Amino acid sequence: MLSKNLFFGFTNKVILLTGSEGKLGKEIKKTFIDMGAKVYGIDIKKNSKYENFKANISNGKSVDRIINKIIKLEGRIDVIINNAGVSIYSPMEQRTSKEIDFTLNVNVKGLINVIKSYFNIHKKKKLKSCKIINISSIYGIVAPDIRIYSKNDNINSEIYGASKAAVIQLTKYYATLFGKNNILVNCISPGGIKDKNHSKFFTSQYKKRVPLNRLAFEKDIMGAIIYFSSDSCSYTTGQNLVIDGGLSSW
Ligand SMILES: NC(=O)c1ccc[n+]([C@@H]2O[C@H](COP(=O)([O-])OP(=O)(O)OC[C@H]3O[C@@H](n4cnc5c(N)ncnc54)[C@H](O)[C@@H]3O)[C@@H](O)[C@H]2O)c1
Repeated sequence: MLSKNLFFGFTNKVILLTGSEGKLGKEIKKTFIDMGAKVYGIDIKKNSKYENFKANISNGKSVDRIINKIIKLEGRIDVIINNAGVSIYSPMEQRTSKEIDFTLNVNVKGLINVIKSYFNIHKKKKLKSCKIINISSIYGIVAPDIRIYSKNDNINSEIYGASKAAVIQLTKYYATLFGKNNILVNCISPGGIKDKNHSKFFTSQYKKRVPLNRLAFEKDIMGAIIYFSSDSCSYTTGQNLVIDGGLSSW
């Protein structure tokens, strides 16, 4: 029989969360703090209420410094959640080099920086285990349906989609490489999360494309994050769990 602790055993677990000051990041942080974990956030935004490191994950040296500091303080990191991400919405016909670099530098290079930095210290200190959860997107799997956007809505760009597809691939790559080090790497691909900036047109059209007939809320994603971070996740690695209300199942 599974003990309750397998699911909710986060007391004193050390969690590193990137993008901790964003919509999803705030919900993840609160969820784990409520369950007794110690959460270290990294974000380019500072937070006065919670402890977090103000840093850019695209900068490998900053990431190394932060991860070394946490290991020095705590002796380990139990869970890493690579959640920081950026989008750009200008039309692909006008794509600039700067926009491509900006998106890839955060969504791909930033994630690589965090995982590489952690893995080096994991090996050096002979750490026991770690769970890594990467946040991708349904747009890493399918293209946006441009018919459901009005003129003023932000349409996810091709470069965002490509960066999120890379996150799914990197998950598999690291999962296979890190198996012998007892580091499990999984990915979550959320569908669109409800936002005050969505137009009425977009919201109604998007809902029609979703078997569950709504956009996601941040809390819809938490169960999967908790599972992949928990001791219950002991034989699942390299997987991508799509949480999109069924949108990509048509
Ligand atoms: N919101 C959605 O509908 C949705 C859907 C699918 C996937 N996602 C993914 O979920 C994750 C979180 O999205 P969100 O909606 O909370 O976005 P958000 O913009 O609210 O939060 C992202 C956070 O990342 C931080 N950040 C950006 N660049 C950074 C950098 N270089 N270094 C450190 N921190 C940086 C931002 O300051 C922000 O606090 C992203 O990876 C996003 O692609 C979001």
